[in-house]
Amino acid sequence: MYIGSIDQGTTSSRFIIFNKAGEIISVGQKEHQQIYPQAGWVEHNPDEIWQNTQEVIGLALGKANLSAKDIAAVGITNQRETTVVWNKHTGKPYYNAIVWQDTRVGSELAELAKDGGMDRFRAKTGLPLAAYFSGLKLRWLLNNIEGLRADAEKGDAIFGNMDTFIAWHLTGGLHITDVTNASRTQLMDLATCQWDDEILGIFNIPKIMLPEIKSSSKVYGHAKGVLGGVPLAGILGDQQAALVGQTCFNPGQGKNTYGTGCFLLMNTGEKPVPSKHGLLTTVAYQLGDEPVHYALEGSVAITGALVQWLRDNLGIIKNSPDIEKLAKEVEDNGGCYFVPAFSGLYAPYWKSDARGVIVGLTRYVNKSHIARAALEATAFQTWEVLEAMEKDAGIPITSLRVDGGMVVNQLLMQFQADILGEEVICPKIIETTALGAAYAAGLAVGYWKNLEDLRKNWGIAHTWKKQMPASTRQHLQGQWKKAVTKSFDWAED
Ligand code: G3P
Repeated sequence: MYIGSIDQGTTSSRFIIFNKAGEIISVGQKEHQQIYPQAGWVEHNPDEIWQNTQEVIGLALGKANLSAKDIAAVGITNQRETTVVWNKHTGKPYYNAIVWQDTRVGSELAELAKDGGMDRFRAKTGLPLAAYFSGLKLRWLLNNIEGLRADAEKGDAIFGNMDTFIAWHLTGGLHITDVTNASRTQLMDLATCQWDDEILGIFNIPKIMLPEIKSSSKVYGHAKGVLGGVPLAGILGDQQAALVGQTCFNPGQGKNTYGTGCFLLMNTGEKPVPSKHGLLTTVAYQLGDEPVHYALEGSVAITGALVQWLRDNLGIIKNSPDIEKLAKEVEDNGGCYFVPAFSGLYAPYWKSDARGVIVGLTRYVNKSHIARAALEATAFQTWEVLEAMEKDAGIPITSLRVDGGMVVNQLLMQFQADILGEEVICPKIIETTALGAAYAAGLAVGYWKNLEDLRKNWGIAHTWKKQMPASTRQHLQGQWKKAVTKSFDWAED
């Protein structure tokens, strides 16, 4: 028997089948369209995503010659915060999904901050006011899509992040989410893990449209269709899933996932730790009926997405992996720094009105320097988040577990170790996101007995050690911090 994991990400949907050792047996993957209706807006077509999800499940099963009866349980992991509203009778979305990177509600933040400042909901939700989270995206839909509010108040229009949307379709109508995804809406009280009536009132969101909040690991129901009869038994937001996939179950253990963005999460145990240095307090996971575990998170919006931008918008590379070869043609960044504040700046700055800048340009700078600066931006942003995490947690972090698509980039990983001045460790299984959701589902049905079973599956594939002299590191860090300030306050009014 195997465990299946649906990974509904920002750029693609995948179905991965794992065995007991956490090894990949089969993968189906399909990209979906990125829709940019205007500057700062990012949307996905939810119907296309559900269609793709069904296709990739069939694809992965077919490749391995398996069927639903070979799958002991299925888990869902997903791009978090991406917001969709659909009709519970027809399944039809009222509008495209508004993607987490979308900044359309950025102009509403100042008004909301008048009463209590940007951190007015931080104590309760762990999150600052920002365009990133689902609550304000949902408010925008209710205020802008004709007829939606009336349908929501009647209980016909229902809300979910992508986990909820997929679970609803997969099970033929279960309207649920897990604690990790709920913690990204800014509508949930972190202490009670319940929807918060006061915030719902301020945002004017009818509670009846929200999903039921569940543990991240339990049998919620059973799939219909191609996975007919398989228990749906795990749901985790993708970054929390990677934390679980990396088996970071002890307080102080953390990971950084290099994907579209970078998301560094550190397990803080059973108590939410408030951040004073620009991080988010979030739910890490809840396994069965055990206590909820919390995490500190440093979210960086644009890292891998910058490589895609160099490919798609500037055309200086043909395929994303070509960036490494181009960047290697030069010794250093030639004095050039690229701050990719395309969706504003997330941690530790939280400036929705920042925009991207390239600074330090001279006639000497060529496309290889730009490529190098783009990769370095990922490492610098990670370093700033790690710095904040050490301050918030009060303990030095001496190594970093990494995963995600960009870890195959040797230049980036070496530069990461150099700029942190710490070891960077990559595990054997880098599909930690899908694996984490598989673990959650597998634990719920007894496929894996306990956390020790999972820890045994984790092993090191590669370690990068610092090579850069401390004086060079400090110089580069200082230049980066200066560059970041140049991106502030740039959004048009
Ligand atoms: O918070 C956004 C994050 O969950 C998106 O992750 O891997 O789909 O870019 P990814």
